[in-house]
Amino acid sequence: MFKEGFLWGGATAANQYEGGYLEGGRGLATSDTKTNGSLTRPRKHSFLDEDNNIVYLRGSEKVPSSYKAVLDETMYYPSHQAVDFYHHYKEDIALMAEMGFNCFRMSISWTRIFPKGDETEPNEEGLKFYDNVFDECLAHGIQPVVTLNHFDMPLHLSEEYDGWYNRKLIDFFLHYCETVFTRYKGKVNYWMTFNEINLLRGYDTLGVHDMNEEKYYQAVHHIFIASAKTVQLGHKIDPENKVGMMLAHILTYPETCNPDDVEMEMMVARRLKYLFSDVQCRGYYPSYVLKEWERKQICVNQEEDDAKTLLDGKVDYIGFSYYNSGVITTRKDAKSALGNGIKTATNPYLKESAWKWPIDPKGLRISLNLLWDRYQIPMMIVENGLGAEDHVESDGSIHDDYRIDYLRDHIIQMKKAVEEDGVDLIGYTPWGCIDLVSAGTGEMKKRYGFVYVDMDDEGNGAKNRLKKDSFYWYKKVIACNGNDIENL
Ligand code: BG6
Repeated sequence: MFKEGFLWGGATAANQYEGGYLEGGRGLATSDTKTNGSLTRPRKHSFLDEDNNIVYLRGSEKVPSSYKAVLDETMYYPSHQAVDFYHHYKEDIALMAEMGFNCFRMSISWTRIFPKGDETEPNEEGLKFYDNVFDECLAHGIQPVVTLNHFDMPLHLSEEYDGWYNRKLIDFFLHYCETVFTRYKGKVNYWMTFNEINLLRGYDTLGVHDMNEEKYYQAVHHIFIASAKTVQLGHKIDPENKVGMMLAHILTYPETCNPDDVEMEMMVARRLKYLFSDVQCRGYYPSYVLKEWERKQICVNQEEDDAKTLLDGKVDYIGFSYYNSGVITTRKDAKSALGNGIKTATNPYLKESAWKWPIDPKGLRISLNLLWDRYQIPMMIVENGLGAEDHVESDGSIHDDYRIDYLRDHIIQMKKAVEEDGVDLIGYTPWGCIDLVSAGTGEMKKRYGFVYVDMDDEGNGAKNRLKKDSFYWYKKVIACNGNDIENL
């Protein structure tokens, strides 16, 4: 049985959902320079080079330090309007309430509160917007679960300070956190620091130019310190606050029982996820990463009290996303599979989504157990779901049985982990509960929601909200607290 008061809801992020990118005094974020794209046309960031020519770089390409981010008015930037939660929040929250949500995961856009990131005074209009959103949620009995930073940052902090590579970012971020913790005291109790902290790699999430491995680990160290200080600050401002981490839990399997494959899987799992949860749940760097830095002669500058900060800033719970598993192999000729965050080898035992992400419901039970065995702290599944194209019938109905099947199979495994393994699971917020822009491709057609938003990849459409079959199904799941999931 799921516990009484289990949190049922859905999840979104400001840069993919909110829009209103220049309204209410909001400043530009790194994510605002990201174009749309598709599997055949990758997403790019737009920059001005030294001669003021606009150049487009793919997210994975290095940004030369001399480049400045720029917007080209002939291009489409999906974050600018996203699906316009900014103007639709009342309607959207009413739809969530109709499904029976008792929580809603969303992120605050940092540049709505501090448009450049290094100001002393916050933007009152931005603070007021989130007051309105939280009040609307609470009026419907919906508890906000807030991510402080989800895949974006003030553009100014990237251009002027080189993003998280600069230690000053810690103080800017803490000032932002102190402002929102104080303002929303009594309205928000569940917080998460950095979304998918283990997948922050690119310019939009770290804001770092000329990235290399040493700069990467230095930026990550600053983020760990910022996160640990945020946990302490959250508790100080309101002892009722629960401040969690957010991990992309990409489950990995060795391809064979050959110890070479098993060893490689262990190394990949550490580097891909455990480094991040080990530091944030245990409060210190694991020996395997310290040894790696030594071997590679990577020097990460740390201040004297950093070790104590990490120890005193352990998280209250683990929020994690789970979409798929992956296969790790030492074979050089392995066919590679896609998935959230990494490329791995294909798994012949699993089906794949239309975007070629493997579908592995049992992997969710395994993930819950791995994390529980390792850390023994409460967990919340804050993202899970199937990205798929939907078809609107002439009467406006949308028959998304594939999504229902995916979610049912995953919730059944969650239930087993709770009932048969005793893991401490406190909530479930499937991703993109109302259709929003894809983080990976910038597409609209890769939809996750219970609610359809009438918009295409180029941003055309009336943005009307339509209920899918999964809307009525999820309502029944919540009504029985998930306990009758096998029969729904
Ligand atoms: C997670 C992110 O990685 O996966 C979300 O936290 C993202 O922001 C989600 O949208 C699904 O990925 P995609 O690429 O299908 O949008």
